[in-house]
Amino acid sequence: MRYYVTTPIYYVNGEPHHGHAYTTIAADVLARYHRQKGDDVFFLTGTDEHGTKIAQAAAERGLTPKQHVDQMAPRYRELAAAVGASNDFFIRTTDREHEAFVQAFVEKLKAAGDIEKRTYGGLYCTACEGFWYERDLVDGKCPDHGVEPVWLEEENYYFLLSRYQDRLAEFFRANPGWVQPKSRYNEALSFITQGLEDISISRSSITWGIPVPWDEEQVIYVWVDALINYLSALSYARPGEDLTARYWPAFHFLAKDILKFHAVIWPALLMSAGCELPTGELIHGYLLVGGEKMSKTRGNVLDPFAVIDEIGAEPLRYYLMREVTLGQDGDVSVDGLYARYNNELANELGNLVSRTASMIAKYRKGSIPQAGPEAEALDVVADEGEAMVRAAGAHYDAAEVTAALEAVWEFVRRLNRLVEEEAPWKLAKDEAQAGRLDAALRSLAAGLRLTALSLYPVVPSTAVEILRRLGQPHGDDDLLLANATWEKLAAAAVEVAPPLFPRLERGA
Ligand code: MSP
Repeated sequence: MRYYVTTPIYYVNGEPHHGHAYTTIAADVLARYHRQKGDDVFFLTGTDEHGTKIAQAAAERGLTPKQHVDQMAPRYRELAAAVGASNDFFIRTTDREHEAFVQAFVEKLKAAGDIEKRTYGGLYCTACEGFWYERDLVDGKCPDHGVEPVWLEEENYYFLLSRYQDRLAEFFRANPGWVQPKSRYNEALSFITQGLEDISISRSSITWGIPVPWDEEQVIYVWVDALINYLSALSYARPGEDLTARYWPAFHFLAKDILKFHAVIWPALLMSAGCELPTGELIHGYLLVGGEKMSKTRGNVLDPFAVIDEIGAEPLRYYLMREVTLGQDGDVSVDGLYARYNNELANELGNLVSRTASMIAKYRKGSIPQAGPEAEALDVVADEGEAMVRAAGAHYDAAEVTAALEAVWEFVRRLNRLVEEEAPWKLAKDEAQAGRLDAALRSLAAGLRLTALSLYPVVPSTAVEILRRLGQPHGDDDLLLANATWEKLAAAAVEVAPPLFPRLERGA
């Protein structure tokens, strides 16, 4: 199976924040899960660097747009690396290859007869880089940014979006799961059936963009330029190799702010250019701070670099995936992050790993015991462990990462209860219980091994470290879910090491 997953490419008008981290982490979780299934995965993220918004940000800093984007884009690349993203490529829309690809793509739209020159007028929100219909404004303001759009009128090239209304509606009806969750599917479909107007796909008032190939006076509208990244990247991510046939079509991750562009305009552009449509789109909600959307425009952002410096990327990945269900909005806070860190990562998981390793060290000279006849008494835990792997997998398959984590955590709690129920320190005092002690210690190690494999997509380094401490193989092939069976536990030597997640005292 092939799996091509993308994040939106982020505007480089300001510093990256948790909102960007969130989408990148979510897409990374799915990319890693699919690799564990043995799929051939390509994972793309990157930056959106043209348009008015960027040109304005550059001007405010007294820089040329090019100087500005060359300073800012690396911050987004650093963020992807800092959160542990396993992206196969990082695209910048100022890449020469992307620019040439976009020009060739719009030529296809023109050849299809879908481009016309007209005077275009509309209400434009620079923060969105998009036009709004009057009917969709709230008190005359952009519902996403709370600013009044300005009337913009220019002679531009139009893409005849209206021509695609019926084909889009038909496609939506034939593919009811194409946009998830259902509420966003309904929103996109109703947007289509309310009537689509043709859209301007070029600008003559700005110069910071990709020139329209047949008219150097105009640049291509930043959203058209940006959407095409999902295709262009495949043409040059590997020098000398075109990956399009291998990976296209993609599965897109994005938040609801840019639904219309991805679920309406993008498929129409692809239809016009004769390309296959994406396999699906997952629309997630917003991270909120005190009930308000976190955004650069609102100035209420939490800095992911600061959090990662302080406590590491894995707790942040865990927290965001656990706290905010994909598809819904959710409040995030540093207090909430610390609480989950201490209660779940330090106490429930980290302690379990430490206790398991130190009991094996103390009672079995550091080696995981072989399964003896007494292991049968704990077969029920083996069944629960394998059921957990299946349940988590079904949730990951449906991009329900929070639910996958809940399934894993239920099992982590089960293993903690097993420690209390079996009380190995008591069994160790009675030679007649040696077989039962073997079984209990072995079950804890086997259970932790399955836990690590099922947690791998969310906290990859932690998962590998748990396997390493348990003396289990942990190379890429060993992480495949095909190995996630109870029986595959190696009777290896364990390592007792400092806590995986030292408890945090929250002073700051
Ligand atoms: N450049 C466009 C996207 C072009 S894609 C062809 C853009 N960029 S953006 O920098 O504004 O990023 C928007 C995306 O960042 C959202 O769709 C979402 O994935 C992520 N988020 C930004 N703020 C967010 C929150 N507060 N919460 C969750 N995700 C957020 O739009």
